[in-house]
Amino acid sequence: MTPSIPETDRDVANAPQTPDLWSLLDLATRAAQAGGIEIRRRLGNVTGVSTKSSDTDPVSDADRAGERAVVELIRRERPQDGLLGEEGSNEDGTTGLRWVIDPLDGTVNYLYGIPCFAVSIACEQVTDGRVYPLVGVVLDVTSQEVFTAVRGSGAHLDGKPLRATEPVGLQDALVATGFAYLPESRRRQALLLTELLPRIRDIRTRGSAALELCQVAAGRCDAYYEDELKVWDWAAGALIAQEAGATVTALGPDGVLAAGPGLHRDLAPLVAPTGT
Ligand code: IPD
Ligand code: CA
Ligand code: CA
Repeated sequence: MTPSIPETDRDVANAPQTPDLWSLLDLATRAAQAGGIEIRRRLGNVTGVSTKSSDTDPVSDADRAGERAVVELIRRERPQDGLLGEEGSNEDGTTGLRWVIDPLDGTVNYLYGIPCFAVSIACEQVTDGRVYPLVGVVLDVTSQEVFTAVRGSGAHLDGKPLRATEPVGLQDALVATGFAYLPESRRRQALLLTELLPRIRDIRTRGSAALELCQVAAGRCDAYYEDELKVWDWAAGALIAQEAGATVTALGPDGVLAAGPGLHRDLAPLVAPTGT
């Protein structure tokens, strides 16, 4: 006989909602497209340019309009979720889900018309102070490539599965990096590079952290590291690289290192920030 379950154990009415990851991905993708439209619309005629953390850290009306478009769509469809956007969106929410948005990653490229900038959107679950990435979307605004990942279900580029390179020896590794906006950080980052560059195949620096992580996911580059980032720079791309088989870890308090597992082991001690 099946043991009866006491009624008191069942609370169907108040059961926490398990998020449907595919519908979150769908919303993230549509929101990225909405942001991308605003950014494309202003390309070549950028207004409202000013600077933020340093004279080399620009922001423009395109960044702000992109974030407005992304946030408007997410708010309309999931009004109770939290938001964290580079251009000022910051809401706690009540669902335990948080959307992390970089409306325009690669602003310097955008201002010069260099076709390497992206909209980056991640949705994360925040439980007991721990963060669990659920989905990530990076839209390459120029090529219209859409990089996506769903936790536990792999990473894709326009629907095709992505795989990071592995194995790759250090001397054969094409390594991407980027530089912070503060002069003293750049001095330290350049010094580290003088030691690293002679030991690897070459360095690439494309000016968009989100796209660099997607390049690792797509095997277009073997590794990416950068040690002074903000969470919106990497939240989506890190999940995409990880779901493509890369090992992705923190680098110092604010950075990431992403590479296939073997190369990650070799690179970790070489790119760790020294604090000098
Ligand atoms: C920057 C880009 C760049 C990286 C910087 C980021 P932004 O983001 O990702 O590649 O080197 O550290 O701040 O300012 O273009 O959104
Ligand atoms: Ca960024
Ligand atoms: Ca940005």
